Amino acid sequence: MSDLPSSTFHDLLSRQIRNEFTASQQYTAVAVYCDDEDLPQMAAHFYAQALEERNHAMMMVKYLVDADAEATIPGIEAPESRFADIVAPVSLALEQEKRVSDQIAALAAVAREEGDYQSEQFTHWFLKEQIEEVATMSDLLKVVERSADDPMRIEDYLAREVPSSREPDPTAPAAAGGAV
Ligand SMILES: [Fe+2]
Ligand SMILES: [Fe+2]
Repeated sequence: MSDLPSSTFHDLLSRQIRNEFTASQQYTAVAVYCDDEDLPQMAAHFYAQALEERNHAMMMVKYLVDADAEATIPGIEAPESRFADIVAPVSLALEQEKRVSDQIAALAAVAREEGDYQSEQFTHWFLKEQIEEVATMSDLLKVVERSADDPMRIEDYLAREVPSSREPDPTAPAAAGGAV
């Protein structure tokens, strides 16, 4: 921990660490719900998303540690874990991704305002990632809405169109402790 005064960017990034851990817990809860509903492809998809969100948090932790800024691991609130139907958790996930996109855009804007181009550059990978995640979740929501009465079609779609784990991305920022 340093005595350096922390910037607004660092404060906002600390808050974003909490948002990413919250997203990770929420996706774990969604995955468990899908597991309970006997939808293994959906469950696998959300378990993998939960790990990705954790990695996002740990990339931000590493950035703060490397910048000699305070990196605090936050407590978080319990995620939503009961859902009326299979559409509800995917709809919630899409809202979450859209919210995170706005949060990352705000981070990028603050870094630029502060003339902190290194931090601005750090946000670029996340901006690109959010475009992908919003698109994937938005496509999945359409499929789930269309096939809510026949969940096996959702399972087929995921098995066919969405890999449950992605290839390692060499352009991704390093995560504290290494990516899992
Ligand atoms: Fe994320
Ligand atoms: Fe995400």
